[in-house]
Amino acid sequence: MKGIKEGPESSSSFTSRLATRWLGRKIIFFRELSSTQDEIRKHVFTGPNGLVVWADRQTQGRGRFSRNWYSPRSAGLYFSLLLKEPLARPLPLYGLATAVGVAQALEEVIKIPFHLKWPNDILLRGRKVGGILLEAVSPALIVGIGLNVSFRREDFPPEIREKATSIFEETGLLVSRAKILRAVLKRLEDRYELLLEKGFSAIEKDWRKRDVALGGRVVLRRGDQMLTGFSLGPSPDGTLLLKTPQGLLKLHSGEILMWEIPGWEKHRAA
Ligand code: BTN
Repeated sequence: MKGIKEGPESSSSFTSRLATRWLGRKIIFFRELSSTQDEIRKHVFTGPNGLVVWADRQTQGRGRFSRNWYSPRSAGLYFSLLLKEPLARPLPLYGLATAVGVAQALEEVIKIPFHLKWPNDILLRGRKVGGILLEAVSPALIVGIGLNVSFRREDFPPEIREKATSIFEETGLLVSRAKILRAVLKRLEDRYELLLEKGFSAIEKDWRKRDVALGGRVVLRRGDQMLTGFSLGPSPDGTLLLKTPQGLLKLHSGEILMWEIPGWEKHRAA
């Protein structure tokens, strides 16, 4: 694992405790990068399938809708994966599969339930604790994952302080990032193999039981349009099925801003 010497663990210790066969067998650690997404792009043709680029800090971490992804030193996990053909189709299914795998890994390590919000947000107690960014760079798919591990609420930029959270903030636990990363890579390897073999059915059940908005009313932003309706959850091509007064919509993109949790009075944006 090139360059890991300055990382949270030595390279041999990290790799010897990693239970994967191909995902993360090569991992490159950086103390600082603009974005792990940009770094891994340099390896699209020459890097092995399953290459991981991990940074301790990002200066220009990015999220969906070209937003910044807050990435201060040592307080989160910021990494990107290189996935090469053969890949399952349509590619957005990798966002759902990644979200499911990350949630399962976190549950295994931290022993509390995590929830998912279409298309690929990871929530803890209703607030966003992690996000996933898919970028197709032919002939590969780059999957970027950001997890808020030990941030204090007051560390977050004011505009996201109410919507975001960290594992530490919700549980009081300071969990090793290397331990989380190993668990995530193992779950993802299994998920990706199943996805290729079985398609959406490989993730449907595990997604639906964590879907925070399933069967409830949601308010969703798509471009400059606001839509409201009942979420019927993701369909086999990864789109969101939304039952609206105008009929059933299949959404390829968008952001759920508010959702109704049956029995709860509160609606909160994440
Ligand atoms: C989102 O929820 O908007 C997606 C956030 C993805 C952030 C991760 S951090 C590692 C990788 N590098 C980036 O610049 N972004 C992704």
